[in-house]
Amino acid sequence: RLGKPLVVAIDGPSGSGKSSISREVARRLRANYLDTGAMYRAVTIACMRAGIDLTDAVAVEAATRNADIELSTSPDAEWVLVGGEDVTQAIREPEVSSNVSAVATTLGARAELVRRQQQLIKDSGLRIVAEGRDITTVVAPTAEVRILLTASEEARLRRRGVQLGGSQSAAALREQVLTRDVKDSTVVNFQQAADGVVTVDSSDLDFEETVQAVLDVVFASTH
Ligand code: DC
Repeated sequence: RLGKPLVVAIDGPSGSGKSSISREVARRLRANYLDTGAMYRAVTIACMRAGIDLTDAVAVEAATRNADIELSTSPDAEWVLVGGEDVTQAIREPEVSSNVSAVATTLGARAELVRRQQQLIKDSGLRIVAEGRDITTVVAPTAEVRILLTASEEARLRRRGVQLGGSQSAAALREQVLTRDVKDSTVVNFQQAADGVVTVDSSDLDFEETVQAVLDVVFASTH
């Protein structure tokens, strides 16, 4: 099977466990891994540092086209560079999380990032697990495997809380997870599975069970 194209597209809301699950699935498949959310975050940092008005769509689109972004496509190495500078930690800061929707809702920025993501998928030799919000529908609609990873609101809030070390109030968590999803939903539909996309609901599954459920779909879709 090695050498055959295997693009696994995974979409889902924040707190669905998408990133950690996708990364582990990539390891087990000996495939590459692409975190497209990290690219939206990298552009957001680039805009913030350049003092760009995030409500100015023309400026955000131009900044996206000009952004020098490199990121790891190995599931075993997590790094993101903007203009050669390591922003791996910085893109996870709350300030970036609250500004990233402005980039994600700028259509010209999306078009540019979709192009780059499609190129990264090609460059991977078509052996990659790519995750985000529009991978199953826009970036890789012809992927061999397309999955929508969902989780109940309760499960998502609980997981994001744990991820942030329990330092956030319940209200701040809700704002971060749910408000961002509402903002992001205005341009991409990642709440419902498109035609041919398999839904994996992780609400009642632990990490390993979710990895197995995704691998089951991969196996079923390719055999
Ligand atoms: O998955 P994440 O939280 O790192 O994503 C960051 C932001 O980017 C989030 O607000 C949604 C947006 N995003 C998107 O619109 N399309 C993608 N393919 C990936 C992320």
